[in-house]
Amino acid sequence: MPSRMTGSQLAALYDAGNQWSADDDFFLAFVNERPSSRVLDLGCGTGRMTIAVAADGHTVVGIDPNAPSLAAARGKHGAVDVTWIDGTSAAIPQEIKFDVAIMTAHVAQAINDDGDWHRTLADVNRALAPGGRLAFDTRDPAARAWESWNPATTRRTHTLSDGSTVETWLESTPEIDGLVTLTEHRVFNGSSGEKGISVLAFRTEDQLRHDLNLAGFEVDHILGGWAGEDVGSGQGELIALARKPR
Ligand SMILES: C[S@@+](CC[C@H](N)C(=O)[O-])C[C@H]1O[C@@H](n2cnc3c(N)ncnc32)[C@H](O)[C@@H]1O
Repeated sequence: MPSRMTGSQLAALYDAGNQWSADDDFFLAFVNERPSSRVLDLGCGTGRMTIAVAADGHTVVGIDPNAPSLAAARGKHGAVDVTWIDGTSAAIPQEIKFDVAIMTAHVAQAINDDGDWHRTLADVNRALAPGGRLAFDTRDPAARAWESWNPATTRRTHTLSDGSTVETWLESTPEIDGLVTLTEHRVFNGSSGEKGISVLAFRTEDQLRHDLNLAGFEVDHILGGWAGEDVGSGQGELIALARKPR
């Protein structure tokens, strides 16, 4: 069935369901450890974090393959201070050596093909200056987040900035070989529904350490929560902090 929500409404729906929160505070603080950095925000989506990083005085490149998300980002207040690029890690500008790279709000899980994932980490490593840092989050498979992605616990109604309303709920397959298929059902302005399907990769802490090392990174920490909790402490996150050796 063709989608009746426009790309711009889907981007607005993403923003309505993903307001600034503790994960954003964490990533912004991570970047701000060094003032005036050259920052790569890979998988920047609608640019919530990207624009906040630029507003704190950093030089920022935001890259994403989703054209409607990037269009929404480009239209936001403060967007003029960011260089926006349509694409994946293959589109990272060669002429800049970045001090910091971030992949926020579980971008790592959207890169569900292992070949793409290895290429992405290698591209990011190449793009960083010696000593450059990388941070990203991914959900810990041990916390089995997919078990709570069901209609009973996820039904929400969102009002978009154009006044339209969207009722959403999630459904998910169980994890098979590290992959989960997530379906977002949407009822737009009360009429019959449409859905968005995504396949998410769930990688273990051991896999992340292996993949980061393979791409040339040293792993500083893998945390389990936004206040620096240990893995397995109940927040269900794996937050990887790594660096390119000097
Ligand atoms: C959950 S969104 C997160 C967006 C943004 N980082 C945030 O904090 O809101 C995941 C993003 O990953 C992007 N993405 C998917 N595959 C990608 C790839 N191979 N390389 C970079 N980004 C990708 C999607 O287009 C989407 O915008």
